[in-house]
Amino acid sequence: MSGAPAYDHARLQEAAKRHLWLHFTRHSTFDDADVPTIVRGVGQYVFDQHGKRYLDGLSGLFVSQIGHGRTDVAEAAARQAAELAYYPLWSYAHPRAVELAERLAGYAPGDLNRVFFTTSGSEAVESAWKMAKQYFKLTGEPSRYKVLSRYIAYHGTTHGALAITGLPDIKPPFEPLPAGGVRVPNTNFYRAPSFVADDLTRFGAWAADEIERAILREGPETVAAVFVEPVQNSGGCFPPPPGYFGRVREICDRYGVLLVSDEVICAFGRLGYMFGSDRYGYQPDVITFAKGVTSGYAPLGGMIVSDRLMEPYLRDETSFLHGVTFAGHPVSCAVALANLDVFEKEDLLAHVRANEGAFRATLEKLHDLPIVGDIRGDGYFYGIEMVRDKATRETFDDDESERLLRGFLSPALYDAGLICRADDRGDPVIQLSPPLTCGQEHFDEMEQILRSVLSQAWQQL
Ligand SMILES: Cc1ncc(COP(=O)(O)O)c(C=O)c1O
Repeated sequence: MSGAPAYDHARLQEAAKRHLWLHFTRHSTFDDADVPTIVRGVGQYVFDQHGKRYLDGLSGLFVSQIGHGRTDVAEAAARQAAELAYYPLWSYAHPRAVELAERLAGYAPGDLNRVFFTTSGSEAVESAWKMAKQYFKLTGEPSRYKVLSRYIAYHGTTHGALAITGLPDIKPPFEPLPAGGVRVPNTNFYRAPSFVADDLTRFGAWAADEIERAILREGPETVAAVFVEPVQNSGGCFPPPPGYFGRVREICDRYGVLLVSDEVICAFGRLGYMFGSDRYGYQPDVITFAKGVTSGYAPLGGMIVSDRLMEPYLRDETSFLHGVTFAGHPVSCAVALANLDVFEKEDLLAHVRANEGAFRATLEKLHDLPIVGDIRGDGYFYGIEMVRDKATRETFDDDESERLLRGFLSPALYDAGLICRADDRGDPVIQLSPPLTCGQEHFDEMEQILRSVLSQAWQQL
C-alpha cells in the first residue's frame, strides 16, 4: 500500500488558494470552502488530506483503468528514469517507444500500424487533424481541410481540438478558432427527433446520413475527416445505435473522407476491448488515444495511423512537420508497457466483459427514482440523465440545473464518498467511469450513494 506524507492542512490550503490555477474551475467556489485535495490512492479508492476515503467512480478523469497505488507500475517508471530519463522522438528512437509502438500496432485493428506519440488527448486530436491536412496536400487533394464532429462532443481544448469540440459554450472566449469545424448530430437516442424516436436502428441510420448530408453541403472536396468517439462522452455516454458505424464507414469511403475514432476515453478496456472500434466492429483510418494507456501513472497520448495514410510520409524528402518535446517520453512509455502488462496478467478486458452486465443491472435499479430519466452506456462507462418529469422527459431550466448540479449534487456526492461527474454541458447527467478492477461491491456502493443523494436532490427541487 502506498503511503503519503503528513501534510500541514492549513498551509496546503493557503498555498493552493494563492498559487494553483485549477482547470475548468470556478475559483470563487473556494472563497468560503476548502480546495478538495486528494493525497493518495489505493485500488479503487482515493483519500483526501483528512484521510477520508472516496470511491473513485470516475477513474480520476477516465484515466485510472488499473486503479491506484500499483507499485509495480511505479517501479517501472523509476527504473526507466534511471536508465534513460529523456530522449526526444525528433530524429531518434528509444527502446520503450519502439516496444510500445509495436505493441499498440499489434492491438489496433486492420492496418493501423504506425504510432505517433503525444503527451495528451488534445495533442492527439490536434495531430490527427494536421496529419490529415498534410496527407491530402501530399496526395493531390489540397482543398480538403474541414472536420466533421458531433454536437456536444468533447475532443480537447487546444485551438485545433477546440474547433473540433462540439460544445458551443466553451468556445466564445477563444474565437476566432481555426476554420473548418462542422457539426453533425450525435447518437443521443433519448433526445432523438420525433420522426425517428420510435426505432433505434432508424435513428442511427438518420444520424449517420446526416454526416453524408453535411459532407455534400460543405463540398466533399473540402472535407478531410470525421471525428467520432465510439461512445460519446460529453452529454452523458451515447453508445452507437446498431449499424451506425458501418454506415459512417461507408459514407466516409464514398467521399474519400478519413474516419478518426477518438478513443481518448474509450480505448484500453473502458468498453471491455482494447479499442472501442473493436467492440462495435468498424475500421477507423486513425485512432487517437491518451488517458488509459498509462492508467495515469505518467502522461501519454498519441494516434495510430493506417499504412495507407503513412505511405506518402515515407517518400523522398517528406516529413510530418509536427512534434512536441515530451511526446513518447521514455518514462511514460515504460509505464504504458507496465500498465498493459497488468491488463494481460489480470485479464482486465475479460473482467469488464464479464461484469458489465452486473454494473448495468445495479445502476438500473435507480430507475425507480423520479429524477432518473435515462441510464445509458456500455462497458464501465455510464451516464445517468436527470429529468424534472420522467413521463415527458422535461429537463431542468438553467437556473435549476445550476442549483441542482453545482449547488447540490457535486458537493453532496463528494461528501457522501463518491467521486463521479455531475455535468450539464448537455442535459444534466451524472457520469460513472470506474477503474476496470471494480466488481459488485463497488457497483453496490455507487448505487447506494447515488440513491441517497439523488433522492435528496429530488426533495430539494
Ligand atoms: C474524446 C476526447 N478527446 C480528447 C480529449 C482531450 O484529452 P486531454 O485532456 O488529454 O487533452 C478528451 C479529454 O477528456 C476526450 O475525452
